Amino acid sequence: MFPFSAPCAYPFAPREWPVTRTRRETLTTKTMAQYRIAWMPGDGIGNDVMEATKLVLDKLNFDAEYVHADIGWEFWCSEGDALPERTIGLLHNVDAALFGAITSKPKEEAQAELTPELQAKNITYQSPIVRLRQEFNLATNLRPCKGYPGNPLNYKDDIDLVVFRENTEDLYVGVEYHPVPESLSAELSKHPKWARFIEKAPLEDIAISLRINTREGCRSIVKAAFEHAKKFNYPTVTVVEKPNVIRETSGLMVRTAREVAKDYPGIDLWETNIDAMCMWLVKNPLDYGVLVSSNMFGDIVSDLCAQLVGGLGFASSGNIGDKLGVFEPTHGSAPKYAGQYKTNPMAMILTAKLMLDWLGEKGEAARLDAAVAKTIAEGKVCTYDMGGTNTTLEVAEEVTRNL
Ligand code: NAI
Ligand code: MG
Repeated sequence: MFPFSAPCAYPFAPREWPVTRTRRETLTTKTMAQYRIAWMPGDGIGNDVMEATKLVLDKLNFDAEYVHADIGWEFWCSEGDALPERTIGLLHNVDAALFGAITSKPKEEAQAELTPELQAKNITYQSPIVRLRQEFNLATNLRPCKGYPGNPLNYKDDIDLVVFRENTEDLYVGVEYHPVPESLSAELSKHPKWARFIEKAPLEDIAISLRINTREGCRSIVKAAFEHAKKFNYPTVTVVEKPNVIRETSGLMVRTAREVAKDYPGIDLWETNIDAMCMWLVKNPLDYGVLVSSNMFGDIVSDLCAQLVGGLGFASSGNIGDKLGVFEPTHGSAPKYAGQYKTNPMAMILTAKLMLDWLGEKGEAARLDAAVAKTIAEGKVCTYDMGGTNTTLEVAEEVTRNL
């Protein structure tokens, strides 16, 4: 057993979601339905959980047309692009998108699985979801981690965390070199630390991935976090970085957070290093509410937060930009369970709820949330991760019955 902390100092946040779409795009395609939603199951269990979520959405009073969009590994293998241009075009003409998961494999496997005619061309794999976030400037990644009462997997009762993760910058920008070009090496030679590398390895044995962060990227995500805290009366926002070592990029985030915090006098800014934060979240999860971080650290810490409230089977997320919201569970394609209808659809169902909130469908979102809460509290129908034997679709059917 871990030593648990004192009871939560926070007022429990309300269950509705604050971030709402501000502008609805005019559709270029005429449709009878109120909303046009891109439907992107992607790979692996993305298909299973999206099928389950459709059962639930169909039962709600949500007037939508769903348009299938190609994304994922098979399009990388057959077309050399996991996010085909036609999908990007389609996403310019929808109100929102629901996305299951994609499979991304390391460099060598990605090259090996390309069709033979594409292998000769010098194509580089890029994660389609990372690209989508960049192409549509989906700068805010929201990852709510709320423990539903009665979930046997809750690490502790009443955990209610939300991670605001910057979604378009940082180590995930994809500016990477291997081998290191001579010209870059020449530039880096101006830095005193570079000599240590070229003394011990030839350029073809050195890899560089750049961490690039902007003041505006930092400002935007910190502001989103503070706005959330303000709306739901959280007393603190915790910025999670590593400025004592990564002095410029993490430093920029923390310095910017201090600036933004001045506009929110009632809310304290807490500053925590990513490594220590992982420890504190396990030790005292109730001490925290709103967390804000850069792309990679936010990715890491949000999986930890997910496990505190039942695991990846419960963790929803939204990629939010000014014009588009792409909603996806935090989990990936879990290939070992693909097509087995074994995994928990709750993360994907809660992702749909997040989308409903963002679209301004507060009533339907609340209805769905209540049905999820009832299903979890009753514990009659649950998947393997909760100790049950029900299928993905059976859990969705139970949520549907509880609507
Ligand atoms: P993962 O999230 O796919 O799975 C890790 C483990 O978590 C699974 O083996 C399973 O035990 C559990 N899990 C995940 N979802 C679950 C659910 N709905 N219900 C119950 N248990 C669940 O992460 P992993 O194994 O690191 O990656 C697998 C693939 O997914 C990789 O190709 C990776 O690149 C990709 N990925 C894609 C993401 C996305 O589409 N945004 C995010 C994370 C990973
Ligand atoms: Mg992740």
